[in-house]
Amino acid sequence: MRVAFLGLGRMGTLMAGHVLSAGHDLVVWNRTPGRASELVARGAHEAEDPAEAVRDAERVVLMLFGPDSVRDVLPKVAGAAPAGALVIDGTTIGPEAAQEFAALVANSGLRYVDAPVAGSTGPAAEGTLGVLVGGSQQDYDDAVSLLHLWGAPEKVRHVGPVGAGSALKLCVNQGLGVMAAGLGESLRLGRELGLDRSALLDVLSMTAYGWYLAQKRPMLDSGDFSATTFSLDLMAKDLDLAVSAAGELPVTAACLAAAQAALGSHAGEDYAALSGFLADEG
Ligand SMILES: NC(=O)c1ccc[n+]([C@@H]2O[C@H](COP(=O)([O-])OP(=O)(O)OC[C@H]3O[C@@H](n4cnc5c(N)ncnc54)[C@H](OP(=O)(O)O)[C@@H]3O)[C@@H](O)[C@H]2O)c1
Repeated sequence: MRVAFLGLGRMGTLMAGHVLSAGHDLVVWNRTPGRASELVARGAHEAEDPAEAVRDAERVVLMLFGPDSVRDVLPKVAGAAPAGALVIDGTTIGPEAAQEFAALVANSGLRYVDAPVAGSTGPAAEGTLGVLVGGSQQDYDDAVSLLHLWGAPEKVRHVGPVGAGSALKLCVNQGLGVMAAGLGESLRLGRELGLDRSALLDVLSMTAYGWYLAQKRPMLDSGDFSATTFSLDLMAKDLDLAVSAAGELPVTAACLAAAQAALGSHAGEDYAALSGFLADEG
């Protein structure tokens, strides 16, 4: 298959690697040059712009930051990809934007599924992500062999029409953001109560925070959040999408405000910095 992959960030680079391993023709593009060298060494072609990347593509995968970045790139795709090409948007964008983008590309005879992923860089490297797909049955059927390259087959799900995957994904990340903020305030409460932080973290690891702390405890212990897998910037974007989509979510809105405040000192760092910020600085 001829595949164009646009967006070689932390996730996109790993996902595009699986496309090459499967033997497909791969053309890649990233806004900032210099991210493609490893993929090029393995046989990918690097395009100079999105239009060149998609010129002969049967499938166009987007793995960008959020809805605004897709809004920047997609018109260039729509004007250049062959009619009938299928756009597979892995970006976390929210349901409204997914519907907007499906309509945009349909005007150029292209097809669109939203296919945001659940899981971070570890599962992306292993090809065991969850993938939540919104689109027609035909488009899902045409996307699924690629989705199985980065998703575990039992976790690749066709969940409804365009936008349905993005709606589910927002709920997943809203919960994650609230959890990160909640843990931060648990640590702050423990400090106010004079508890030993390490002993408190040991006990919290046995509670509903266990899954989160199994991954993030080393960062919380060291106060060094620079080994980013999922950035605080992305988390702030997703909390903002959730609040905008629902109108009123007071707890989530408070977590969004905290994430935005934390960005002042932790931009680019892992989203676990939200816990650290609320525990120590917020
Ligand atoms: N990281 C995770 O654990 C994870 C897990 C699940 C879902 N996601 C979602 O997956 C998507 C990608 O995540 P990531 O961690 O790979 O993000 P990332 O490392 O921050 O990469 C973002 C990518 O978007 C590109 N980009 C940003 N703005 C752009 C614009 N205006 N025009 C063109 N390209 C633009 C960046 O290009 P430059 O290199 O030029 O900046 C980069 O390639 C996001 O929607 C995120 O929410 C991430």
